[in-house]
This record gives sequence, structure tokens and C-alpha cells, in this order.
Amino acid sequence: MKKVVIEKPGSYDRLGIEEFPDLEPDEGEVVIDVKAIGVNYADCLVRMGVYQSAKEFVGWPITPGFEVAGIVREAGRGATLFNQGDRVIAATRFGGYATQLAVKESNVIRLPDNLDFVQGAGFPVVYLTAYFALHELAHPRKGETLLIHSAAGGVGSALVQLGKAAGCRVIGVVGASHKIDYTKSLGADEVIDKSRENLWERVEALAPDGCDIAMDPNGVETLKQSYEHLAPVGRLVIYGFHTMLSKGRGTPNWIKVFWDYLRTPRFNPLTMTNKNRNVLAFNLSYLFDRTDRLKQMTEKLLEMLGEGKISPLTSASYPFEQVADAHKALESGNTAGKIVLTV
Ligand SMILES: NC(=O)c1ccc[n+]([C@@H]2O[C@H](COP(=O)([O-])OP(=O)(O)OC[C@H]3O[C@@H](n4cnc5c(N)ncnc54)[C@H](OP(=O)(O)O)[C@@H]3O)[C@@H](O)[C@H]2O)c1
Repeated sequence: MKKVVIEKPGSYDRLGIEEFPDLEPDEGEVVIDVKAIGVNYADCLVRMGVYQSAKEFVGWPITPGFEVAGIVREAGRGATLFNQGDRVIAATRFGGYATQLAVKESNVIRLPDNLDFVQGAGFPVVYLTAYFALHELAHPRKGETLLIHSAAGGVGSALVQLGKAAGCRVIGVVGASHKIDYTKSLGADEVIDKSRENLWERVEALAPDGCDIAMDPNGVETLKQSYEHLAPVGRLVIYGFHTMLSKGRGTPNWIKVFWDYLRTPRFNPLTMTNKNRNVLAFNLSYLFDRTDRLKQMTEKLLEMLGEGKISPLTSASYPFEQVADAHKALESGNTAGKIVLTV
């Protein structure tokens, strides 16, 4: 089997592919012949050495990757849920950029019949993140206005669909004009192209009383204004900081990172209370052991998928060997939907 190994933090050239012996399952595990691997922005952060949980749980060298789809090659002793040949999706806390993966069977689900491997591999992270942000934290009500930054991205696309399924009025924000039609096709009621329009003037025109929910993975670029544009009892959900990095640079500009860290807003609980504004934040990679909660969310998402309330994301796929090109594309800021590696 082969896997991507990053020996130390850096740019795209750090994504080496190495050969290893085939895997044997431990007790309670299944070994999967991987057919497709979901690529997430977090994987790029892992490569750059700025993803905290990767440093805590793995260190160096590291193989990134949170999600795969493939075929069960072998089930270990005590693993009873899956048989050789089953088509499955698996979640893993790192290690997914590999042609074989050994995982506990509790982290594996059957690939729905109507999904192919590429759609399956691109499903768990973006939808679990979006579901957690929206339903576990923000608790949307029908008719509420939901502002979604980076709405054409992986998590953003999932949020638009879940927001519409929850009966919200969705305002999507995108960073380039070519993403507008795609975001509308997901169901967004309004799309703001911040490369051509004044973002906050448009938000004020579209939601004069403020937004009930704002989903912000940008960090310093928009965080303060996302908070300022909340309606009373509004919820700001923070789940990323990607504007701290420069698009397409491959490595952090540490002066910018430090400067942006200093400029990151601090929210005052006294003001929050009197203005009835809420700030929520999370990182799913620290919740990986909460299998009960993740399982419930997965079941709900599969039910919604089965009912046609949400759909798998449009994927751009790259051969496993072109993992560096996949990272380059994701960090360019130009992609819409999900990126997947194929084996
Ligand atoms: N907290 C969690 O548990 C969790 C889980 C999954 C993902 N996330 C976060 O959610 C965000 C989206 O992740 P994703 O995997 O779905 O990626 P993505 O949204 O598909 O791709 C990144 C998008 O972010 C925007 N962007 C802004 N500044 C950027 C920069 N410096 N470099 C690259 N892109 C930039 C671009 O869109 P626009 O220009 O159109 O805005 C770009 O297309 C990331 O911040 C990620 O870290 C958090």
C-alpha cells in the first residue's frame, strides 16, 4: 500500500508518497481498499504545520486525511458489522491519504447505494461540520436569515443545503464571480460576490434588521463585522480562520499570521449579554471520540440524503499521485464544491 507522508511542515513539495506493506486489521478493525479520499482545507493546514490537533494527536511525520470511501478488504477479530467486499465510507482522525486504511468498525458506515466512491469520500467532513454548526450550535428556526461566508466551498455548500432544508433564508458570500451560479444552484436565496460588491453594504440592504445566524470560517477578515451584523438573539458560529493565510502561497506568512492574531476580535461578555448576541465556536477534530454524537448526526444526514433534502457535492477529482495539485487548487481560493483524490 501507499500513503502520503509529510516529514516536516512546508509547501506542496512536502507531500511525499511512500510504499508500505499491506495492512492487517487489529481487533475490532476493518481494513479498507481505498478508492477515494476527501480533501479538506484542514489537510493543507496540517501540511503547513499549523493544525493544532494534528500536532497533539500525531506529530511528525504525518499522513493527513479525515475521510475515505472504498471496499472492505478484511475484517479483524471481533469486527462483525462488515464483510469483505462491502462498499463503505470511513472517518479517521488523520491517516486517510492512503491506498489502504485500518479503522475501528465504529468509524465505518455503509456507502449508500446511490453514491459513488468520490461522492462518498466527499460526504462526511463537510456535512458533519455543517450539521454541527447549524443544528447542534445555531439551532435555526424557519424563516431566519442565515449568512454563510465562503458559501461555495465544501463546508459552505453543505451549509447552504442544510440551511434551505431547515427553512432559512440563505445569503451566501463568495470571493469570485464564477462561484455565483454554483451557489444559487445549491439553493441560496441571495449571493454576494465580495470581489465586486461591498459585502457589508449588501448585507445591510438584504437584512436591514441583521442576520439571525452568521457562519464564519474566515477569521479576522470578517469576524468583527459578522458579529456587528447579527440581529438580536443572533448566533455567530466560528469554525475556521482561513483568511490568516495567503491564498496559494503554500506556507504561512508568519508576520501576517501574527498580525492577524493580534487583530482577531475579542468578544466582551457584558456587551454580548446586553446586545443579545451569541458567539459559538468548535473544531470537530477534537470531537472525534464523541462517537455517540457523531453517529446520531451521521444517521440524520443519511436520512436527509435518502429523502433528497440534501445532495452529495459536485467534486473535482485528482489522481492520488497528484495530491500536490489538489492542495494547490484548494488553497487557490478558486474552487467550488469538494475536492477528492481517486486511487
Ligand atoms: N472547525 C471545524 O471542525 C472545521 C471542519 C471542517 C472545515 N473547517 C474550516 O472550514 C473552512 C472551509 O473548509 P473547506 O475544506 O470546506 O474548504 P473550502 O471552503 O472548500 O475552500 C476554501 C475557500 O475559502 C476561501 N478562502 C478565503 N481565504 C482563503 C485562503 N487564504 N486560502 C484558501 N481559501 C481561502 C475561498 O472561498 P471564498 O473566496 O469564496 O470565500 C476558498 O474557496 C476552512 O476554514 C476549514 O478550516 C472547520
